[in-house]
Amino acid sequence: MDKNLPDASATNRKLVVLTLGLLCILQAALNISLRLALYSSDAPDYDAVIRNLTEERDQLKRKLKTFDHYTREGWVYFRSSFYFISSDTKSWADSRYDCLQKGADLVIINSKEENEFTRQLNRSFWIGLTDTETEGTWKWVDGTLLNSTTSYWYPGEPNPKYYPDENCGEARYNYNENNWNDNNCKTLYFWICEKKVA
Ligand code: BGC
Ligand code: CA
Repeated sequence: MDKNLPDASATNRKLVVLTLGLLCILQAALNISLRLALYSSDAPDYDAVIRNLTEERDQLKRKLKTFDHYTREGWVYFRSSFYFISSDTKSWADSRYDCLQKGADLVIINSKEENEFTRQLNRSFWIGLTDTETEGTWKWVDGTLLNSTTSYWYPGEPNPKYYPDENCGEARYNYNENNWNDNNCKTLYFWICEKKVA
Protein backbone atom coordinates (compact mmCIF):
# COMPACT_ATOMS: atom_id res chain seq x y z
CA MET A 1 0.00 0.00 0.00
CA ASP A 2 1.24 3.51 -0.89
CA LYS A 3 2.08 5.24 2.39
CA ASN A 4 1.31 8.64 0.80
CA LEU A 5 -2.25 7.68 -0.13
CA PRO A 6 -4.89 8.10 2.61
CA ASP A 7 -6.08 4.81 4.08
CA ALA A 8 -9.69 4.59 2.75
CA SER A 9 -10.93 2.14 5.40
CA ALA A 10 -9.46 4.27 8.23
CA THR A 11 -11.30 7.31 6.85
CA ASN A 12 -14.54 5.32 6.68
CA ARG A 13 -14.07 4.17 10.30
CA LYS A 14 -13.55 7.76 11.38
CA LEU A 15 -16.73 8.79 9.53
CA VAL A 16 -18.74 5.98 11.13
CA VAL A 17 -17.47 6.90 14.61
CA LEU A 18 -18.22 10.57 13.99
CA THR A 19 -21.72 9.81 12.70
CA LEU A 20 -22.43 7.52 15.64
CA GLY A 21 -21.16 10.22 17.98
CA LEU A 22 -23.43 12.79 16.38
CA LEU A 23 -26.42 10.42 16.54
CA CYS A 24 -25.75 9.85 20.24
CA ILE A 25 -25.65 13.58 20.88
CA LEU A 26 -28.86 14.04 18.87
CA GLN A 27 -30.58 11.24 20.80
CA ALA A 28 -29.52 12.75 24.12
CA ALA A 29 -30.75 16.19 23.04
CA LEU A 30 -34.08 14.67 21.98
CA ASN A 31 -34.44 12.84 25.29
CA ILE A 32 -33.75 15.98 27.28
CA SER A 33 -36.12 18.16 25.24
CA LEU A 34 -38.93 15.55 25.40
CA ARG A 35 -38.48 15.24 29.13
CA LEU A 36 -38.52 19.02 29.50
CA ALA A 37 -41.64 19.30 27.35
CA LEU A 38 -43.49 16.61 29.31
CA TYR A 39 -42.59 17.79 32.78
CA SER A 40 -42.31 21.54 32.28
CA SER A 41 -44.64 23.54 34.55
CA ASP A 42 -47.14 24.50 31.84
CA ALA A 43 -47.71 20.94 30.68
CA PRO A 44 -50.91 19.45 32.22
CA ASP A 45 -50.47 17.16 35.22
CA TYR A 46 -52.35 14.21 33.74
CA ASP A 47 -52.49 12.31 37.03
CA ALA A 48 -54.19 15.28 38.69
CA VAL A 49 -56.62 15.69 35.79
CA ILE A 50 -57.62 12.03 36.10
CA ARG A 51 -57.94 12.33 39.90
CA ASN A 52 -60.25 15.35 39.49
CA LEU A 53 -62.41 13.67 36.86
CA THR A 54 -62.71 10.55 39.00
CA GLU A 55 -63.75 12.64 42.01
CA GLU A 56 -66.33 14.51 39.88
CA ARG A 57 -67.72 11.24 38.55
CA ASP A 58 -68.03 9.80 42.08
CA GLN A 59 -69.75 12.97 43.28
CA LEU A 60 -72.31 12.73 40.46
CA LYS A 61 -72.87 9.06 41.24
CA ARG A 62 -73.57 9.93 44.90
CA LYS A 63 -75.95 12.74 43.85
CA LEU A 64 -77.84 10.41 41.52
CA LYS A 65 -78.16 7.83 44.30
CA THR A 66 -79.51 10.44 46.76
CA PHE A 67 -81.95 11.73 44.12
CA ASP A 68 -83.15 8.22 43.34
CA HIS A 69 -83.58 7.39 47.05
CA TYR A 70 -85.61 10.51 47.95
CA THR A 71 -87.84 10.53 44.86
CA ARG A 72 -88.67 6.85 45.41
CA GLU A 73 -89.76 7.76 48.95
CA GLY A 74 -92.06 10.46 47.56
CA TRP A 75 -89.95 13.54 48.29
CA VAL A 76 -90.15 16.46 45.86
CA TYR A 77 -87.00 18.22 44.65
CA PHE A 78 -86.79 22.01 44.39
CA ARG A 79 -83.63 24.17 44.23
CA SER A 80 -81.12 21.98 46.11
CA SER A 81 -83.63 20.63 48.66
CA PHE A 82 -85.95 17.67 48.96
CA TYR A 83 -89.40 18.29 50.46
CA PHE A 84 -91.64 15.79 52.18
CA ILE A 85 -95.30 16.77 52.16
CA SER A 86 -97.24 14.99 54.89
CA SER A 87 -100.56 13.34 54.19
CA ASP A 88 -101.75 13.38 57.80
CA THR A 89 -101.90 16.07 60.47
CA LYS A 90 -99.94 16.55 63.71
CA SER A 91 -99.06 19.21 66.28
CA TRP A 92 -96.06 21.39 65.46
CA ALA A 93 -93.76 19.44 67.83
CA ASP A 94 -94.90 16.03 66.53
CA SER A 95 -94.50 17.25 62.95
CA ARG A 96 -90.97 18.37 63.71
CA TYR A 97 -90.23 15.03 65.38
CA ASP A 98 -91.37 13.23 62.23
CA CYS A 99 -89.01 15.32 60.09
CA LEU A 100 -86.08 14.72 62.46
CA GLN A 101 -86.79 10.98 62.32
CA LYS A 102 -86.49 11.25 58.54
CA GLY A 103 -83.08 12.93 58.78
CA ALA A 104 -84.63 16.30 57.86
CA ASP A 105 -86.36 19.15 59.70
CA LEU A 106 -89.45 21.31 59.27
CA VAL A 107 -89.13 23.52 56.19
CA ILE A 108 -87.07 26.71 56.48
CA ILE A 109 -88.23 29.27 53.94
CA ASN A 110 -85.58 31.75 52.88
CA SER A 111 -86.67 33.05 49.52
CA LYS A 112 -89.80 34.24 47.76
CA GLU A 113 -89.37 31.39 45.26
CA GLU A 114 -89.32 28.82 48.03
CA ASN A 115 -92.44 30.37 49.59
CA GLU A 116 -94.19 30.27 46.22
CA PHE A 117 -93.15 26.64 45.84
CA THR A 118 -94.84 25.74 49.15
CA ARG A 119 -97.89 27.89 48.35
CA GLN A 120 -98.78 25.89 45.25
CA LEU A 121 -99.12 22.70 47.30
CA ASN A 122 -102.71 23.69 48.12
CA ARG A 123 -102.68 22.96 51.81
CA SER A 124 -101.89 24.80 55.02
CA PHE A 125 -98.73 23.49 56.64
CA TRP A 126 -96.58 23.86 59.67
CA ILE A 127 -93.27 25.50 58.82
CA GLY A 128 -90.07 25.42 60.89
CA LEU A 129 -90.73 28.75 62.60
CA THR A 130 -91.44 29.36 66.29
CA ASP A 131 -91.24 32.05 69.00
CA THR A 132 -91.71 29.60 71.88
CA GLU A 133 -88.31 30.54 73.38
CA THR A 134 -88.92 34.31 73.53
CA GLU A 135 -92.33 35.76 72.70
CA GLY A 136 -91.99 37.92 69.59
CA THR A 137 -88.55 36.58 68.58
CA TRP A 138 -89.23 34.30 65.64
CA LYS A 139 -86.57 31.68 65.00
CA TRP A 140 -86.18 28.95 62.42
CA VAL A 141 -85.56 25.37 63.57
CA ASP A 142 -81.85 25.72 62.70
CA GLY A 143 -81.57 28.52 65.29
CA THR A 144 -81.37 31.42 62.81
CA LEU A 145 -83.48 34.51 63.39
CA LEU A 146 -86.30 35.26 60.97
CA ASN A 147 -85.06 37.86 58.49
CA SER A 148 -87.59 40.64 57.86
CA THR A 149 -86.72 40.75 54.12
CA THR A 150 -87.72 37.12 53.68
CA SER A 151 -90.75 36.88 55.93
CA TYR A 152 -94.21 36.46 54.49
CA TRP A 153 -96.65 37.17 57.34
CA TYR A 154 -100.25 37.80 56.40
CA PRO A 155 -101.15 41.44 57.24
CA GLY A 156 -101.86 41.65 60.97
CA GLU A 157 -99.91 38.44 61.74
CA PRO A 158 -98.39 37.44 64.05
CA ASN A 159 -101.12 38.59 66.43
CA PRO A 160 -100.20 37.69 70.04
CA LYS A 161 -102.37 40.58 71.28
CA TYR A 162 -105.50 38.66 70.23
CA TYR A 163 -104.10 35.12 70.36
CA PRO A 164 -101.38 34.98 73.04
CA ASP A 165 -101.07 31.18 72.76
CA GLU A 166 -99.88 31.14 69.13
CA ASN A 167 -96.16 30.43 68.93
CA CYS A 168 -95.77 28.32 65.81
CA GLY A 169 -95.58 29.31 62.15
CA GLU A 170 -98.08 28.04 59.62
CA ALA A 171 -98.19 28.71 55.85
CA ARG A 172 -101.74 29.06 54.53
CA TYR A 173 -102.48 28.17 50.92
CA ASN A 174 -105.70 30.20 50.70
CA TYR A 175 -104.01 33.50 51.59
CA ASN A 176 -102.16 35.78 49.16
CA GLU A 177 -98.36 35.67 48.72
CA ASN A 178 -97.98 36.88 52.31
CA ASN A 179 -99.49 33.73 53.71
CA TRP A 180 -97.92 33.06 57.10
CA ASN A 181 -99.89 32.94 60.31
CA ASP A 182 -98.90 32.18 63.86
CA ASN A 183 -101.07 29.49 65.32
CA ASN A 184 -101.41 27.40 68.45
CA CYS A 185 -98.62 24.80 68.33
CA LYS A 186 -101.03 22.09 69.51
CA THR A 187 -103.30 22.50 66.47
CA LEU A 188 -103.18 19.52 64.12
CA TYR A 189 -101.87 20.51 60.71
CA PHE A 190 -100.14 19.03 57.70
CA TRP A 191 -96.43 19.75 57.65
CA ILE A 192 -93.47 19.98 55.25
CA CYS A 193 -90.01 18.57 55.97
CA GLU A 194 -86.97 19.87 54.13
CA LYS A 195 -83.68 18.09 53.51
CA LYS A 196 -80.96 20.20 51.91
CA VAL A 197 -78.56 18.49 49.53
CA ALA A 198 -74.95 19.63 49.16
C1 BGC B 1 -106.35 31.84 63.86
C2 BGC B 1 -105.34 32.92 64.15
C3 BGC B 1 -105.40 33.97 63.11
C4 BGC B 1 -106.79 34.48 62.92
C5 BGC B 1 -106.88 35.47 61.79
C6 BGC B 1 -107.72 32.44 63.67
O1 BGC B 1 -108.64 31.45 63.33
O2 BGC B 1 -106.37 30.92 64.92
O3 BGC B 1 -104.06 32.39 64.19
O4 BGC B 1 -104.54 35.01 63.46
O5 BGC B 1 -107.66 33.40 62.64
O6 BGC B 1 -108.12 36.06 61.72
CA1 CA C 1 -102.25 34.20 64.29
